[in-house]
Amino acid sequence: MNKQFFIETFGCQMNEYDSEKICGLLYSQGYLETMDNRDADLIIYNTCLIRENAEKRLYGKLGAIKKLKMDNPSKIIAVCGCIPQNDEIREFILKKFPFIDLIFGTNTYDRLPELLYDIELKNKRVVSILKDSDELKEDLPKNRKFSHKAFVNIMHGCDNYCSYCVVPYTRGREKSRNFHDIVEEVKDLGLNGYKEITLLGQNVNSYLFESDKTYNFADLLRELNEIESIDRIRFISSHPKSVDDDFIKAMKECKKVCNQVHLPIQSGSTKVLKEMNRKYSRENYLEIIRKLKKEIPDVAISSDFIVGFPGETEEDFQETLDLVKEVRFDSAFTFLYSIRPGTPAGRREDQIDEKIKHERFDRLLDVLYPIFEEINISYIGKTVELLVDNVSKNDESYLTGRTDTNKIVHFKGDRNLLGKLVNVKIEKAKTWYMEGTRIE
Ligand code: SAH
Ligand code: SF4
Ligand code: F3S
Repeated sequence: MNKQFFIETFGCQMNEYDSEKICGLLYSQGYLETMDNRDADLIIYNTCLIRENAEKRLYGKLGAIKKLKMDNPSKIIAVCGCIPQNDEIREFILKKFPFIDLIFGTNTYDRLPELLYDIELKNKRVVSILKDSDELKEDLPKNRKFSHKAFVNIMHGCDNYCSYCVVPYTRGREKSRNFHDIVEEVKDLGLNGYKEITLLGQNVNSYLFESDKTYNFADLLRELNEIESIDRIRFISSHPKSVDDDFIKAMKECKKVCNQVHLPIQSGSTKVLKEMNRKYSRENYLEIIRKLKKEIPDVAISSDFIVGFPGETEEDFQETLDLVKEVRFDSAFTFLYSIRPGTPAGRREDQIDEKIKHERFDRLLDVLYPIFEEINISYIGKTVELLVDNVSKNDESYLTGRTDTNKIVHFKGDRNLLGKLVNVKIEKAKTWYMEGTRIE
């Protein structure tokens, strides 16, 4: 009988991708995945520390599985990812949840087989944390979630130290992967039927690899654009401080690079941006948007916003609202500022009252959402190309795909279209999705 594992992943695509590698490693050890944690011999939570609610969700999960472990002590309970990278929180978890058998971090998941072996052999708790990823193995087996689209990590870590953010502490220093290894990985994906790749990094625009020559992010896009079997290239995230003309030129030239940029602004106030240590001003950001829209007229722009950063005044917030109206974002992730351990902003005394944060958050959505909807309505009557991702959750006769501008579109179709490119005429548009009919 094969052993079974259950894994739940929190956080960003980086963690999703690490989970694909963790699953790949476990499969190579003879484990099979189960979707029911009651059947699992090994339960893994791949965790996120970015905001307090991500942390609380883990504690909720651990509280809930305590009984499973008590009923069957041979089950192995593991916590990995970004949360255990923080020393104090890791110690807290080890104390508060004594039934956890294994803790590993963002730089040690490649050791999982030996860690499991240690637990079984020595029958004691195992903790494996490394602060940086110098020793992380690159060529791990991956058990990819989709068979038509894949993540490809192009860099590790982050050196930007935005004053609110834990990622530089949980993921270590910024390092770009070998240019030729990335190209080979994408070629291989293409040969295996993958149509779309998403390049991952905390700031993909700062990609830089030196060997026979120096390769930047624009060079990488141009090289990947030449790979015959790949249809679409996406990337996430871009940092405004690192967006340059060569990148915009490469986006424009490369037909396979999707017309979409996720460009987190965080705040529309130059004062707040400075205190966030973002290293660009409101004007710098607007200038990038002007250039992008001029060079690539149908480009879709999405963003991240933090509301209620310490010291944010009503005037600062008003500048965010004005900027939203000026840029007209296609979509966005919006967050209430959350105090994070070890960050400079978390130590500030001028934290914003929760009530004011929530009130500003609602006002931001009131400006963003109608714009999302208006942009989507402008697609009505147009025919768009979709890469078909999924069967619809509510009605199995419907499929869901994405346009190259990353809009979600539902349409009636047979599941043999999954993973294929199809044309759909848009008939209906809402804030977060559109509906249409397939044109054959
Ligand atoms: N590297 C990416 C972002 C990764 S984290 C970038 O800089 O663009 C994703 C988003 O989480 C950030 O863009 C930010 O909007 C949000 N975030 C990070 N730390 C936060 C905090 N302490 N409180 C609220 N939101 C936060
Ligand atoms: Fe966090 Fe800033 Fe790095 Fe993004 S760029 S991961 S927000 S420190
Ligand atoms: Fe990602 Fe959360 Fe870690 S956003 S990098 S999983 S702290």
